[in-house]
Amino acid sequence: MAEMLLELAGIGKTYPGVRALDDVSLSVRRGEVLGLIGENGAGKSTLMRVLGGVIAPTQGVIRVGDVEYGQLTVREATRAGIAFVHQELNLFENLDVAANVFIGREKLMGGRLKLVNNAQMRASVAPLLARLGADFSPDTLVDNLSIAQRQMVEIAKALSIDARVIIMDEPTSSLTISETERLLEVIADLKAHGISVIYISHRLGEIMTCADRVVVLRDGRTVGELARNELSHAAMIRLMIGRDLKALYTPPKRASEAGGCDIANLVTTAFPDRQISLSVRRGEILGLAGLVGAGRTSLARAAFGIDTILGGEIRIDNARVNVASPRDAIRHGIYLVPEDRKKSGLVLELPIRENMTLANLSNYARMWLIDGAAERKVAKEQAKSLSIKAPSVDIEAVTLSGGNQQKVVLGKWLSMKPRVMFFDEPTRGIDVGAKSEIYALMRDLADRGVAIVMISSDMEEVIGVSDRVAVMHEGGISGVLERDQFSEYNVLRLAIGQTLETTEGAAT
Ligand SMILES: Nc1ncnc2c1ncn2[C@@H]1O[C@H](COP(=O)(O)OP(=O)(O)OP(=O)(O)O)[C@@H](O)[C@H]1O
Ligand SMILES: [Mg+2]
Repeated sequence: MAEMLLELAGIGKTYPGVRALDDVSLSVRRGEVLGLIGENGAGKSTLMRVLGGVIAPTQGVIRVGDVEYGQLTVREATRAGIAFVHQELNLFENLDVAANVFIGREKLMGGRLKLVNNAQMRASVAPLLARLGADFSPDTLVDNLSIAQRQMVEIAKALSIDARVIIMDEPTSSLTISETERLLEVIADLKAHGISVIYISHRLGEIMTCADRVVVLRDGRTVGELARNELSHAAMIRLMIGRDLKALYTPPKRASEAGGCDIANLVTTAFPDRQISLSVRRGEILGLAGLVGAGRTSLARAAFGIDTILGGEIRIDNARVNVASPRDAIRHGIYLVPEDRKKSGLVLELPIRENMTLANLSNYARMWLIDGAAERKVAKEQAKSLSIKAPSVDIEAVTLSGGNQQKVVLGKWLSMKPRVMFFDEPTRGIDVGAKSEIYALMRDLADRGVAIVMISSDMEEVIGVSDRVAVMHEGGISGVLERDQFSEYNVLRLAIGQTLETTEGAAT
């Protein structure tokens, strides 16, 4: 068995009213990929913040080699070879890649002035980037990089401090399908070089691909461990939620109907020289796949009246609708559940209750007074049906775990009456139990005659949930797959702008 690198023993962490971690123990061996899974709020990020020296535990010890700590500082963690690729990346956008990699450890020129030696820093970062297969140079401003590229910068930074353990907390939640594949290759390479990775994800397929061992947390406790040869979706789910999940995907109760939403020759501001044509029938869930930047979000924003429509038209049940603002869109029954919960979905300082009812405040307002009781009742029901883990609906959204914040955003939209609904990455960061509930909610909306477009970069989800899949490439639709054509391979081919290999039932 490989050498033990570090060990967390009996770790506890309490926040007011919340026992986030309770007697958790975890060890990491050299060169292994350790999967860390659990429902939203189970304590995964908290445990990793303890290991990264970001927060102090209330109990327990951390052993690194022969040294034992009651708590680590960030500096001690770094010195012990622990590096953190953050869930919310934190790089300096106005500095270049090399400066970010060496932040706080800048290489200086010889001589008195202690000038920063940019050339030398860039020269030492270049081979690290090459090793990661990065397609940008050390003097690129971080501001100009995509999320996937920024992640590579964080990993390069970890390599440059000779990290022995790299913590990745939901690293693929903002990556596209092909970027995810690339990251998994990088992880395999790190492992081959004896570097350990702690990998947190709600995408169990990724865990199956990369983990040597999986530790499962539930309600702040370790509830089990699975060796590589014991790994299966069912085994992981059983430990995570403490029971079997009947079915992750809810099948449709009835066939899709005529009518729905037709988008014809639509031109968006993001791709002014491309036209998009796409139909979603009532009762159908249309998956919308593609690389980040392929135009999926801008299509949704245009249909919802956020971005100006430059050409073409939108018809609902064969009647042309004019969408010049979100107000118009809502009037016609077009809704969008946006992708970035922090920017457009959630007010962190407000209680869960208000966040869930902000968008349709008028329903709860009587005589200019907000009917607090009605609001609380609706919020409580939504919180229950989405299994939001919180002591009450009156607490601020900011204290919730990432996935539970996403559920609050969804709760807000699900109480309305849509005809066409766009979901942009609806289950980003959401645990498997809650995912199945969200899929069931989408399916229920569809069964009630709503036309649904689900933008997703999660391959398993796209294939599992959708009735048809449209794939975008560089602002246009590169193909539409029917169920019998569904495969990761076909989605990927269309996403990179190639055509399908077989011509039978070819994409329209
Ligand atoms: N600063 C804080 N103040 C109060 N409670 C907190 C704080 N940070 C975390 N918690 C609580 O601790 C528990 C564990 O949260 P944590 O973020 O570790 O969950 P997680 O397993 O990472 O979940 P997710 O999968 O949703 O990211 C949750 O109940 C959360 O609300
Ligand atoms: Mg987390």
